[in-house]
Amino acid sequence: MCGIVGYVGNNDAAPVLLHGLAKLEYRGYDSAGICVRQNNLEPVIVKAEGKLKNLIDKTDSGKSLVGTSGIGHTRWATHGNPTVENAHPHHSDDYNVIGVHNGIIENYQELKDKLLRNGYTFYSETDTEVIIKLIDYYCKKYKKGPIDAINKAMVRARGSYALAIMCKNYPDQIWFAKKGSPLIVAKGNDGCYLASDVPAILKYTKNVYYPEDYECGVITKDSIKFYDLNGDELKNKKSVLIELDADSADKGNYPHFMIKEIEEQPEVIQKTLNYYLKNDVIDLSSTGLTDDFLANIRNIYIYACGSAYHTGVVAQYIMEEISGVNVRVELASEYKYREYSQRPQSLVIAISQSGETKDTHESVLKAKERNIPTLSICNVQKSTISRSSDYNMYTYAGLEIAVATTKAYSCQLINLYLLAIKLGRLNGTINDDLYNELISDLKRIPSLVKEIIEEKDQIQRIAQNLVPMKDVFFIGRGLDYTICLEGALKLKEITYINANAYAAGELKHGTISLIDEHVGVIALDTQSKLYEKTKSNMVEVKARNGKVLAVTNYGNYDVDSASNDQIYVPKINEYLTPSLAIISLQMLAYYASIAKGINPDKPRNLAKSVTVE
Ligand code: AGP
Repeated sequence: MCGIVGYVGNNDAAPVLLHGLAKLEYRGYDSAGICVRQNNLEPVIVKAEGKLKNLIDKTDSGKSLVGTSGIGHTRWATHGNPTVENAHPHHSDDYNVIGVHNGIIENYQELKDKLLRNGYTFYSETDTEVIIKLIDYYCKKYKKGPIDAINKAMVRARGSYALAIMCKNYPDQIWFAKKGSPLIVAKGNDGCYLASDVPAILKYTKNVYYPEDYECGVITKDSIKFYDLNGDELKNKKSVLIELDADSADKGNYPHFMIKEIEEQPEVIQKTLNYYLKNDVIDLSSTGLTDDFLANIRNIYIYACGSAYHTGVVAQYIMEEISGVNVRVELASEYKYREYSQRPQSLVIAISQSGETKDTHESVLKAKERNIPTLSICNVQKSTISRSSDYNMYTYAGLEIAVATTKAYSCQLINLYLLAIKLGRLNGTINDDLYNELISDLKRIPSLVKEIIEEKDQIQRIAQNLVPMKDVFFIGRGLDYTICLEGALKLKEITYINANAYAAGELKHGTISLIDEHVGVIALDTQSKLYEKTKSNMVEVKARNGKVLAVTNYGNYDVDSASNDQIYVPKINEYLTPSLAIISLQMLAYYASIAKGINPDKPRNLAKSVTVE
C-alpha cells in the first residue's frame, strides 16, 4: 500500500527520495509527494496525482529541490480521493510539523474534533493530516520536543501507523514512530535512511533496524536513536543484515517483474527445498519446531488472505489425507471476527508473502491471546507476522515485486508439503514407500517447473483466446479445485476478466445456467481418480457451446474430445501436481494480460501488501 522514504545525509535528498519511492511503486499507490529542506531554510513540499513519473517531471528528477534532508510518500487512497490535497506530506499551518504516514488512524474523527476545538483547520480528508496536527498540538502545548509530542500522539491514536516527521526547530533530523505498519531504519555511508520496505534503501545499505510497535526515534546524517513510549532511549537495538541483492529489485532484461518472477521459480523452489530437506530427511530445526511438539498436534488452523489462503486450501486437502491431523483453513479477515472454540493440541499457521497483511497478523494475535502456538510461513524475514509468531518457517522466494504473487505462492506450497509429509511421518500415516516417492518427486519439481516454463510459446498462443472473454470459469475436483482458486485469482487480478473457480461437481447445481458460447471454461483434470468425472463435466460444457481449455497430465490425450484446447503438465505424485499445474495458469494469466495491453505488474486498484482492513 503506501510507501514511505526518509533521508538525512551528505547528498541532495530529493533524488534519494524519488529513487526510494520508485522502488516502492510495486506496493501500489495513486499519488505521491516529497518534502525537502536545506538546513534552516524553509522546507519545500511538492505533490502530484497519479504515477510517480508526474512527481519526477514536476521536480526535474529532484534537481529542482535543494536540501539534504527530506521525506517522501506514495499514497494508496483510503480517506479521500487520490488528489493533491490528500497526498502526503501534510503539515501544520505554520510548517512546524510536516509528516508522511502509512496505515489508518481509526479514531481520527474524534481527534480531529478535539483539534478543531483548539483552533486547527483541515484542508484534506485524510486521517494523516489529523495525526500530524496532533503532534504539532502536543509540541506547542508541552514544549518538550518531538519525542514527547510523538509519544503523546501515539498514546491517543488508535489504529496503525508508520510515521516520518520533520520539525521546524530541528533541521537535518527526521523523526519516526511505528505501530502496526512496517518501518525500517538504516545507516549508510552517506547518511541515514528510513523506509516502509527494504527495496527503497538496498542501493545504499543492507544493515537495517526494525523499530517495534510503540517505538519512535530520530535519524541525523550519522546517527539513529530509538526511544520507548516513556521517552527513554533504547540503547541496545541491533541491526540485521538483509540477504537481498540490490539487483533483485530490478527487472533486468525482462519486460515485467511478473514474468521474471515466474521464471525464477525453479531456482527459488530449489532454494526453499534446500533449507528444509537434508539428505532426504525433512529437517525443521531452523524453524524451532521439534518432532515432539509436532507429534502432539492434532488440529491445524490455517489463516491467510488471497493467494496465501489458496495455498492453505491445498494444504488442507493434502494434510487431511496424508498426515492424520484435522485441518481448518479460513480467510484471516473472517476468522478475526468469528468466535469458535479451538480444540486442544492445536497449531495456528499464518501464511503471508509480505508478512505484513493486517488481517493475517491479527489472526496471529488472536491465536496468541487464546494461547495457541503460532507458526508463520512468510517470505519476508523479520516481517510483522513473523516477529509475532512463535515459530517461523520462511519461504526463500527472494524479493517479490509483481502484485500478482507467483514465486512466493510456489514456495509456500513447498513448505506446506514438507510440513504435511513431516506430520504424516511422525503420525505413522505415511509408509516408507509413499515417503520415498514424495521426497524424490519433491526434488523433481524445480526441473519439471522449468520444463513447463519452456512451453511458454504454446501457452502464449492459447492465452490469446482469453482476450475477448468477459467470463472465465475454472473447474476441477479435489486438489484440482484448489488450483482453480488460484488460477482464477491470477486471471482476474491482471486481465480484469471475471474469473471464478467452481468445484466441478457444483456446476450442475446452478452455474451451468451461465454457460454459452461467450464463456470460457478452464478445466483442471490432473487427479487420476477424478479424471473421468471432470472429463464428463467438460463434455457437458462443450455441449452448451462453452469453450473448454483442459489442463491435464501428459498421457491423458483422450481429453481432446472433451475440450477445444489442451495444456499438458508432466506426471508426478499427484499430491504434488498443484506445483506444476499452477505454473501454466500463471503464464496463461500473464500472457492474456499482455495481449490485453495491461501492465501485469501494476494492476489497477491493487496493492502488494495490504496493511489496512
Ligand atoms: C496475490 O496475487 C494477491 N496479490 C493477494 O491475493 C495476496 O496473496 C494477499 O493480499 C495476501 O498477501 P500476503 O501473502 O502478503 O499476506
